[in-house]
Amino acid sequence: MVAHTVLLDFTVPSSQILDAEKRSNLKSNITNVLKEYFVGLKHLTECNVDGSLVILFSGPRGSLITVRGYSEGLVTLNIEYFKQDDEEALVSFETGRDLETALLTATSASRSHTLAPIKRGGPFERYFPTADERLLEYDIDRLVFEARSPYQKVQIVHSKSLGNMLVLDELQNLSEADLIYTETLMQRGKENYEGKDIVILGGGDGGLLWELLKENPKHVTMLEIDDVVMKACSQYMRSVCGDCLDKRKTSSYEIIVGDCVKALTHMIEEGRQFDYVFGDLTDIPISPTPHGDAWDFIRLILNSSMRVLKPTGKYMTHGNGASCPESLKMYEDVLSNLSVPVEYTKDSAFIPSFFEDWIFYQVSLK
Ligand SMILES: C[S@@+](CC[C@H](N)C(=O)[O-])C[C@H]1O[C@@H](n2cnc3c(N)ncnc32)[C@H](O)[C@@H]1O
Repeated sequence: MVAHTVLLDFTVPSSQILDAEKRSNLKSNITNVLKEYFVGLKHLTECNVDGSLVILFSGPRGSLITVRGYSEGLVTLNIEYFKQDDEEALVSFETGRDLETALLTATSASRSHTLAPIKRGGPFERYFPTADERLLEYDIDRLVFEARSPYQKVQIVHSKSLGNMLVLDELQNLSEADLIYTETLMQRGKENYEGKDIVILGGGDGGLLWELLKENPKHVTMLEIDDVVMKACSQYMRSVCGDCLDKRKTSSYEIIVGDCVKALTHMIEEGRQFDYVFGDLTDIPISPTPHGDAWDFIRLILNSSMRVLKPTGKYMTHGNGASCPESLKMYEDVLSNLSVPVEYTKDSAFIPSFFEDWIFYQVSLK
């Protein structure tokens, strides 16, 4: 059960909106086409909003059709109705394209376009933004898990092409098709983890811990704040995390549940030093106590991490989408102004569930 919205638009000469007689012709041409497609079409109201023409119609199955003609000549047509699961679509993409052609012909429009129906309000969301805020529609067919933890909304949804996907606070995190994400984060094949002491900040999906354990490290400590994420992933993302989230402590790793900043502070006080620290936190990490804005918190995490690195150690992390150069530049500015001088290399990979290239950083002390 979702609300379907079909969005169409076409462009006519602006005179068709501005000139009263031409506008009246345009209205009757649009109305005549709509009558052919929507049995019982009813003209509800019309008005002028900021120089644009607005007409509201009702159609079958409670559909509402809004036509808006802007003074520049752009006409938008939005058809919205509620679709039950077992019902046929009132306006499929194909019907929408037919309607578009009929309107194009009837109004002598110079261009037109129809979007596939937008579906809203169902048991799961299908739309997630890219790093630069473009809308992506995922082929999600099922909500597998949902809970609100003390820190965030935790969901696992099933995508027909990507398998199960972890979604935190409505943002896509990791899918079962994203091994390349973890392999690029850890620079598999380029870094040697054998016998190394490692810390993971975050990493609640267990993917990084699972892949690192395959490389025979001396010990991995994972500092993850959200038990709900780990429990959900250990049950529904097993192809990503194997059985490593089933136990919290073995001879080769320990998972400490809590804020990574607090744990890092203890590690600094104890003078502990590691070969690798991984920043595998959410893009905007959870800040349980106020630390200024998100960048202040990221800076605090980076500065604390540098203090637990051996002089030869490395801080490995994910950055942002390659589509977001401003945000990457901000991150690099933060790196260049840490309390200790650092140098960094970068790598990138196309991440299937992000539908875009992602940038990863490898930071070492100068
Ligand atoms: C799921 S992982 C991996 C991130 C993912 N690969 C992505 O797309 O950004 C991110 C984890 O960071 C954890 N996290 C966020 N802030 C944290 C903090 N202050 N301390 C410890 N863990 C934190 C979240 O609970 C989450 O499980």
